[in-house]
Amino acid sequence: MTDAARPALLLTGSVMEEVVERQLSGRFTLLPLDALDDTNAGAVQAIATRGKVKVDDALMARLPNLKIVGNFGVGYDTVDAAAAAKRGVIVTNTPDVLNEEVADLTLGLLLATVRQIPQGDRFVRAGQWTKGAYPLGPTLRDRTVGILGMGRIGKAIARRLEAFSVPVVYHSRRPQADVAYRHYPDLVEMARAVDVLVAILPGGPATRHIVNKEVLEALGANGIFINVARGTVVDEAALLSALQSRTILAAGLDVFEDEPKVPEAFFALDNVVLLPHVGSATHFTRAAMGQLVVDNILAFFDGKGPLTPVAETPWPRG
Ligand code: 8YV
Repeated sequence: MTDAARPALLLTGSVMEEVVERQLSGRFTLLPLDALDDTNAGAVQAIATRGKVKVDDALMARLPNLKIVGNFGVGYDTVDAAAAAKRGVIVTNTPDVLNEEVADLTLGLLLATVRQIPQGDRFVRAGQWTKGAYPLGPTLRDRTVGILGMGRIGKAIARRLEAFSVPVVYHSRRPQADVAYRHYPDLVEMARAVDVLVAILPGGPATRHIVNKEVLEALGANGIFINVARGTVVDEAALLSALQSRTILAAGLDVFEDEPKVPEAFFALDNVVLLPHVGSATHFTRAAMGQLVVDNILAFFDGKGPLTPVAETPWPRG
C-alpha cells in the first residue's frame, strides 16, 4: 500500500538506478510497473520510462493524477505524446546530452562497415592472416553521404564527416536554415545521388519503413546503409533481402525492429555490421541522460516547469 500523502513515481523498467532512482527516492515512492494496482494508481504523479515498455493512453488512463512522463532517451516513440497532451500530461525527453556520443558511434559504425573492421578482426583471430593477406575492400573516399534526418544528432554527424572530407547532403521534411548542405525534398532522389545513407530521424508511425525497397534500390550496388535511429524506420525484410542479393553493398545497424531480437538471417551475412543499440551507451552519457530525467521531474514539481518538454506538450502549456 502506498502512502497516500506521498506522490509516487512509476518506473516502467530500470531507469538508471544510480541516477534517477537514487535522486528521486527522497521525494517519491518509487513504484515498479509490476507493482501498480488500484490501491496505488491514484498516487502516481510521474513516470520515468526507458522506451522498452510503451507509455500509451491505456496506461495513462489508469493514472488520474499523472502530471509528467520523463523519457530516458531523446527518441520518445514508445510514449504516446499526443495522448499525453490531451490528458494535460507533460512529456520530457533527453535531447542534446547525447548528440556527440551518438555521432561518435555513427562514424565508428560507418568506418567499421565500409572498411570491414569486425571482419578484419575475425580474420586475425581465426589465424587466417598467416595463410594470406586480407583482401582489398571498399573505401569511404569518393563517397557522398546522405543523412536522413538533419536534427541535432544529424548535424553532429555531418560535422564529423566534414573532417573526413566527405560531402554531405540530407533529406528531412523541411530544409534546415542553419546548415549549408544540399537538401533533397525527395528521399529516393537523394538515395540515387549518394553512396552512403545514414538514418538518424525519429521513429514512430510517421517514419515507419521510410527506408523501403525502392530507397534501397536507389542507393544501389555500391551503397551502404547505416541505421542509428530506430529499427522501425527501415523495412527490415527488404533490407535483409537487399543485403543478400547485393542490391546494396553493406549495412551497419545499431537498431532493429524487434529489439533485442535480431533476425538470425543477418548473422549469416558478411556484409553487415551489427551492434546492440549502443549509440548512447556509455557511463558518461547515460549518466547525463539520467540526470536530465531527474532535473526535468524536479524542476516541474518545484514549479519551474519542465526543462526539455517534447513538441507535443509545450511549456508554458500551448
Ligand atoms: C537509448 C536512444 O538507448 O536516446 C535515444 O533515443 O535510442 C538511446 O539513447 C534509449 O533511449 C534508452 O534505452
